[in-house]
Amino acid sequence: MASNSRAQFSSKFGFIMAAAGSAVGLGNIWGFPTQTASNGGAVFLFVYLAMICLLAFPMLVAELTIGRYGQSDPIGSIRAVWPKGRSGAILLGLAAMITASLILSFYSIVAGWLVGSFAGSLFDIVGLTTASDWVNSFGPARNLTLMVTFMLLTMHVVKNGVHDGIELWSTRLMPVLFGLFAILIIYIFTLDGATEGLKMYLIPDFSHLSPKLVVSAMGQAFFSLSLGVGTIMVYGSYLSKDINIPKTAAQVAAVDTGVAIGAGLLILPAMFVAKAQGVQIFSEAGELLSSDTLVFTVLPAMFDTMGGAGLVVSLIFFLLMIIAALTSSISMLEVPVACAIEELNHKRSTAVAWIGGLITLIAAVIVFNFGALFGLVIEITTVYGQPILGLCFALLVGWVWSRNKLLEEIKQGYPELEKGLFWKIWPLYVRIVCPVFMILVFFA
Ligand code: PHE
Repeated sequence: MASNSRAQFSSKFGFIMAAAGSAVGLGNIWGFPTQTASNGGAVFLFVYLAMICLLAFPMLVAELTIGRYGQSDPIGSIRAVWPKGRSGAILLGLAAMITASLILSFYSIVAGWLVGSFAGSLFDIVGLTTASDWVNSFGPARNLTLMVTFMLLTMHVVKNGVHDGIELWSTRLMPVLFGLFAILIIYIFTLDGATEGLKMYLIPDFSHLSPKLVVSAMGQAFFSLSLGVGTIMVYGSYLSKDINIPKTAAQVAAVDTGVAIGAGLLILPAMFVAKAQGVQIFSEAGELLSSDTLVFTVLPAMFDTMGGAGLVVSLIFFLLMIIAALTSSISMLEVPVACAIEELNHKRSTAVAWIGGLITLIAAVIVFNFGALFGLVIEITTVYGQPILGLCFALLVGWVWSRNKLLEEIKQGYPELEKGLFWKIWPLYVRIVCPVFMILVFFA
């Protein structure tokens, strides 16, 4: 099973950037602020943080460990920890693979909008206003063009493999993204209206607390850490044995959560800045309008306040957003591609071509039936698919896998494991608390 020719991340930093690259994406910059704004602000933030610490982080460790032990694609890795359940492993791996592919199909549409905003700024700079209007309009032809562009980019990177594709891009570009984010957050607070957004973000109003909010926060936490679809498992399989998994997982979770909090610090104030400028953000009844496209309304309004510099800043900003989305989309495509390479013996380039093509086709169907399918696919995959698969992975690690093998695997990069608090809590936690918690939230 473990073959020496398998690709690996070349350094711990490279892995953290790639895993953080997978985690940090539209979920942080589009999903989290939008959900926070439509779920009453601070309350959602707090529940979300609790979900990250109590559920998502332990599950991140679990998935990474399965992957590194299995040294294979998700189907192979699940089979490795569950040798008696051959068909169960295939079924679970397939379900993860399909969920990852469906997520990519809607993700590429949203990421396409980013490509549109980027191209729009570019066209504005060179004075091509008609072209700029087209890429910023909302129609099937435009959505299709932008989505296909983004899918081609994703396929190109994945074709180049783990080291020259995924790791290289993630290490170069993630740090730039963090820097620009910090600058924009400082800038937004120099504008009128921003503090109103900050209040909504940080002062909780508990009347918004509801079972639905908790379920949404759980889904969002799973989505943001790329859990439950085999992504983390497949990245774990490229991780070298001398790496301390719990510590590395904590670092990845911290980076991801930091960026989500930062995105909230930017977008919620930006909403109120846009409102102060007369952009309509809330309906008469106080409900958020068009939440799907929220960031695509409020961010341009912020860039407008910067005068001529705004065009350049928005160009850089959307470029970085595209990169953040790309480092996530490549991790989704890697799941089915790794399965095709290792289970079906396909060449990487062949696997990327047919699987990428198929996902583009599914995304095209969503584009042409946007009203009916877009929200539905998001709900099926993120609200149900990811947590349910996560639950299966927790049961696998907690009940099926032998505790000794689990211990041995984590110990390789963490020799003093048994002395620390982590090993006293985590195995039992994944065995009992995580599953019970997930089931409770579901049936609430
Ligand atoms: N975590 C990514 C984001 O926040 C999305 C993602 C989900 C990536 C599932 C891989 C797998 O945008």
